[in-house]
Amino acid sequence: MTTLPLDDGCNARDVPRAGSSSPAFHAAVVDKGYEATTSRIIHESARRRTFAIISHPDAGKTTLTEKFLLYAGKVAEAGAVKARSGRRRAVSDWMTMERQRGISITSTVLQFTYRDHVVNLLDTPGHRDFSEDTYRVLSSVDAAVMILDVAKGIEPQTLKLFEVCRARRLPVLTFLNKCDRTGRDPLALLDEIEEQIGLRATPVTWPVGTPGDFQGVIDRRSGDFIRFTRTARGASVSVEEALDQGRAASEAGPAWKAAMEECSLLDEVGASLHLESFLAGESSPLFVGSALTNFGVRHLLDAIVDLAPAPTARADSSGKVRPLDSAFSGFVFKVQANMDPAHRDHVAFVRVCSGRFERGMTVVHGATGRPFGTKHAASVFGSERDTIDLAYPGDVVGLVNASDLHIGDSFYVGEPVTYPPIPSCAPELFATVRSRDISKYKQFHRGLAQMAQEGVVQVLRDPNGDPTPVVAAVGPMQFEVLSYRLAEELGVRVELFPTGHKAARRTDRETAAKLSAWSSVRVLTRGDGALLALFESPYWLQRLEADHPDWTLDPIVSSTTFA
Ligand code: G4P
Repeated sequence: MTTLPLDDGCNARDVPRAGSSSPAFHAAVVDKGYEATTSRIIHESARRRTFAIISHPDAGKTTLTEKFLLYAGKVAEAGAVKARSGRRRAVSDWMTMERQRGISITSTVLQFTYRDHVVNLLDTPGHRDFSEDTYRVLSSVDAAVMILDVAKGIEPQTLKLFEVCRARRLPVLTFLNKCDRTGRDPLALLDEIEEQIGLRATPVTWPVGTPGDFQGVIDRRSGDFIRFTRTARGASVSVEEALDQGRAASEAGPAWKAAMEECSLLDEVGASLHLESFLAGESSPLFVGSALTNFGVRHLLDAIVDLAPAPTARADSSGKVRPLDSAFSGFVFKVQANMDPAHRDHVAFVRVCSGRFERGMTVVHGATGRPFGTKHAASVFGSERDTIDLAYPGDVVGLVNASDLHIGDSFYVGEPVTYPPIPSCAPELFATVRSRDISKYKQFHRGLAQMAQEGVVQVLRDPNGDPTPVVAAVGPMQFEVLSYRLAEELGVRVELFPTGHKAARRTDRETAAKLSAWSSVRVLTRGDGALLALFESPYWLQRLEADHPDWTLDPIVSSTTFA
C-alpha cells in the first residue's frame, strides 16, 4: 500500500498528487492531508502575534523585552537579555559603534510563547536617522508597541519613527514606562501623543500613587485596583493583588481618589479602549507601568495577545490576496551582513506570509525565478543562530549565507507571488564617497554594493559623467555607519564630501534631458535603475514643479508622507 505523508511539508494547496496505483484512494488521502495541513496553518497563524517595539534609546526597550521573557517563562530570572546583548556586543566589532553612541542599529528577532500564543518580537533602531530600517521592520509586523519614558514623553529623535508607524496605519499599543519615578503629568502626555503623532491614546490602565510611591494601576475595564508588590531587583514576577473599589478606597486612600478623578476625566472625554479604531491605527490603547519593577508588564503582554491582531492574508503587488493557508510565501524585509564577525555571514530576514515553511524545502526566489534551498534557516538574535525547522505566517526566518538576496525579494512555493516593494524613504543628505586607498578599489566598490544591498545608504552614480559614487541617506548617522563598516569589515577607509543637494525627486529620461539645462540639478542613477534628480535648493525645486507640472518629478516615497 502506498502511504502518503499527511503532514509532509508540502504546503497545503500544493500537496503533490503522485505515487499511487489507486487514484480514488490517493485523492482521499491527499484531501485528508490537505485539510490537516491547511487547518494547521490557520490554527498556527491565529496564535501568532508579530510586533515591533519602537522607542527612543533609554526608554526601556531592553528592560521591557527582558521582562516579557520573564513573564513568558523563557528566562527564570530577569537579566538574561542584558547579559545576552552584552555578549552579542562583545563579539561583534562593528556594533561597538552602537555601544559608544548608545543607539541600536542592528535589529534582532525574538520568539517566545505566552498563554499558548507564539510572540515574535522585532527590535527596531531607536534613532530617526535609521527610520528607513524601522520602516522595513514595520512592513513585516502586524502591530507595534511604542514605549515612552514618562519623564520625557515623545523625544524629537524618535518622533519620525512614530510618524513612520502612524503612516503605515499599524495598530500601536503604548506603554508609559518608568512610572516608578518622577515624571510628567500622564494626562499631558496623552495630549502630546495626539498632537504630535495624531494617535488618540486610550488608557486601559492608569497609575495609582505618586512618583516614587507607585503602588499599582487601575484597570479601567474592570475598575479594579491592581496592587503590585516589588520583588528584589525586579528579577522575578511581581506579586499582584486585585482590590475592588471599596477596598481600594480604604487601603490606597488619597492615591486611589486622585487616580479615580483622573479616570473620570478620561471617561468624560471618551478616552477609552476602542478596538476598531486601534486596529485601524487611529487610537492607541495605553498601558502604564515600570519595566524595572515589573509593574504593568503582564497587562501589556496580555494586551499583545488579546488586542493585537494575528497575521492576516497579504495582498501581492497586483492587489490579489494570497490566503494564509495557500502554499508557502514570504518576503525579505532586511538584509544584514557580518552580524557575526567570526563567520562574516549574510542574513536575509524573511517574513512568512502564507503557508508553512520547512527548513530544507526548495522555494522559488521570485527575483530570479530560480530554486532556492533553505537548509540554512535560522532564528537570529544578534550573532546567535538557532536552527528553525518550521515556521508559519507571522514568523521570521533568517536565511543565512544568502548573499544574493535583496530587500523586498519574494519567495514562494506553487503559484508565483510578488509582494509589493518596500518603499524607501526620501534621502535628505547626499555626499560623494571616495576610497582613501587607491589599492582598495575593488573592496571599495564591493563594500558599497553590499551597503546598498543592505539599505545602509542608497548608492547613486552619474550615468554619463563623474564616476565618483554619491551616497544618499536620511540621516548623518547612516554615513557614519557606512564609513565605520567599510573600514572595519573591508579595511577600506573612505572620505565623504557633501554635495550640497537638499532634496531629490524621481524622474524619467525625458525630464532628465530637460533638467540638464540647470547646473544646480544633478540626475543620477540608483542601483535599481531609478533616475533621481538632486536639487540644491528646495525653493528651485518648488518653482520647477509649479512652472512645469507636466515634468516627471515624483516625490520619492517619504516616511512622513506615504500612507
Ligand atoms: P533601551 O533598551 O530602550 O535603551 O533602555 P534600557 O532598557 O537599557 O533602559 C535604560 C535605562 O533605564 C536603564 O538604566 C534601565 O535600568 C532604566 N529603566 C528601564 N525601565 C525602567 C523603569 O521602569 N524605571 C526606572 N526607574 N528605570 C528604568 P541604566 O542605569 O542606564 O542601566 P542599568 O545599569 O540599570 O542596566
